[in-house]
Amino acid sequence: MPNTTLKAAEFIKRGDLVIFPTETVYGIGADATNEAACQKIFAAKGRPSHNPLIVHVANIEQAKTIAVFNDNAEKLARLWPGPLTLVLPLQSNHNIAPCVTAGLSTIAIRIPAHEIALDLIKNAQVPIAAPSANLSGNLSATALKQVQEAFGKHKNIYILEHPTECIIGLESTIIDLSTPSPIILRQGYFTEEFLSDYLKIAIQIANENSEIKAPGMLLKHYAPKTPVKLNATFLSDNELGLNFANSQLNSKFSLNLSPKGDLTEAAANLYYYLYQLDEYAQKNNYNAIAVAHVPTDNIGAAINDRLKKASSGL
Ligand code: TXA
Ligand code: MG
Repeated sequence: MPNTTLKAAEFIKRGDLVIFPTETVYGIGADATNEAACQKIFAAKGRPSHNPLIVHVANIEQAKTIAVFNDNAEKLARLWPGPLTLVLPLQSNHNIAPCVTAGLSTIAIRIPAHEIALDLIKNAQVPIAAPSANLSGNLSATALKQVQEAFGKHKNIYILEHPTECIIGLESTIIDLSTPSPIILRQGYFTEEFLSDYLKIAIQIANENSEIKAPGMLLKHYAPKTPVKLNATFLSDNELGLNFANSQLNSKFSLNLSPKGDLTEAAANLYYYLYQLDEYAQKNNYNAIAVAHVPTDNIGAAINDRLKKASSGL
C-alpha cells in the first residue's frame, strides 16, 4: 500500500491528477498550489471555472497557513479528520492557485478521515484540491467501478485503490463560517441539529434562494440519466425499485438501501445503488427509478437532499 501512495504523490508533485477514496466520496485531486495542475481538474470533469474546489489538508497547522480560523472554526476543527468542510477567509499570504477559489476571498477546507487520503497529502507535501471524482453533473462516485468508467481512459490520472472505500457515502457537510452567522451550504453527515447543538447557536441551511450559497448549488447535480421518482409506494410498468427498510418496490432488478432501515447504511449505499439501477435502466429501456420514502432524521436529511436533486436534475 505505501508504494502506491508514494507513486500517487509523485503524480501530484509533477502536476498530474490522482483519484483517491475519502470517507465521503472519491476525490479527483491536484497540488492546490499549482494553477496548471488544478486547471486539469476542471478540464477532466468538465467543471465550470466559477465553481471553486475544496482543499484537503493533513492537519490543522497546514489548514491555518491557508485559512483564517475564528472561534467557531477552532471548535469545529475538533471534529476533524471528518466529513466536514469549513468555508473561511483566505490567509493573506496563502499560496493556493487562483482557479481553486474561483476568485472568491474565502476557501473551503477539510481534513479527510481516510488513511490513504491522509497518506497521499502527507507524501505529496502540499495541500490537495479535490472535488468529487465524477464528470460535472453526474452522480458522485463511491465505488472504484464508477471512477474507472469516468476517468480510466486518462493515462495521466492515477487511481489510488484501497479496500475501504467511502464509508459515509455522501459528500461532506459544508458550513460557511466567513459570514456573520454560520450557514450550512450543503447537508451531510454532520446535521444542522448536531452543529447547532455543538456550537450552541441556531444555524440556517442555505437553499437556492438564500443570499449566501455555494456556487455549486446553482449547477445541475447528482442526476442519473434515468428519471428518479421519490416517495414511491408502488411500481408502474417499466420502473425499477430502490427500497428502504421493508418497502416492496420489486422489479426484475431492484435494490434496498438498507433492509434493516439503517440511515447510515442507506447513505453509504445511495450513490452506487443509483448508479447500478441507472446502468440497468439504460441498458434495458426502463423509464424511471422509483425510490421508496426515506425518513428525514439524522443523515436522512442529506439523503433526501441528494434524492431531491437526483429527481429534479437540479
Ligand atoms: O466530501 C467532499 O466534500 C468531497 C470529497 C472529495 O472531499 N468533495 C466534494 O467536492 O464534494 P465538490 O467540488 O464536488 O463540492 C464542493 C462544493 C461545491 O458546491 C463548491 O461550489 C463549494 O463546495 N465551494 C468550494 N469552495 C467554496 C467557497 N469558498 N465558498 C462556498 N462554496 C464553496
Ligand atoms: Mg461534486
